[in-house]
Amino acid sequence: MKTAICPGSFDPVTNGHLDIIKRTSKIVDKVIVAVLYNPAKNPLFTVEERIGLLKKVTKDIPNIEVTCFSGLLVDYVNEKKIDIIVKGLRAVSDFEYEFQMALMNKKLNSKIETMFMMTKGEYSYLSSSIIKETFRLNGCINGLVPEEVIEAMKQKFECCK
Ligand code: PNS
Repeated sequence: MKTAICPGSFDPVTNGHLDIIKRTSKIVDKVIVAVLYNPAKNPLFTVEERIGLLKKVTKDIPNIEVTCFSGLLVDYVNEKKIDIIVKGLRAVSDFEYEFQMALMNKKLNSKIETMFMMTKGEYSYLSSSIIKETFRLNGCINGLVPEEVIEAMKQKFECCK
């Protein structure tokens, strides 16, 4: 039984993330989607809200668990006996940082493998930050994030205005 982890901030989950999660779920037995709990960051959505959204938008994927983690990813991976870290690669610009992280994770625990999956072309420019900025400035984000995320963002920005 092979288990993969898709870690991230998911603030909020985009269709790019969802594509990677879905494709990963087809090639391993179980996928753990893990939201990083990072008190140093100032996210739009709380960890609980991000988990709630991820659970809603992945409800049709049978072999999935949505959770959160804090501290080093490799420690979590080791503790949960996860086989592979799966990361999405959007463009060359992602490569340097992802390569750095994969090598650092390997240095911290040589048994852990990271695998990269190329993002679908149509989502290759997407990021949670670009979604938040576009939405905040009244730009259209239809088709780039799940409907549930658009609704949650409407509520979030309404209460912040
Ligand atoms: O969605 P993001 O913000 O690109 O996700 C980055 C994430 C959560 C995968 C990465 O920051 C992470 O693994 N953080 C946990 C702390 C850690 O293990 N750092 C790596 C040492 S290189």
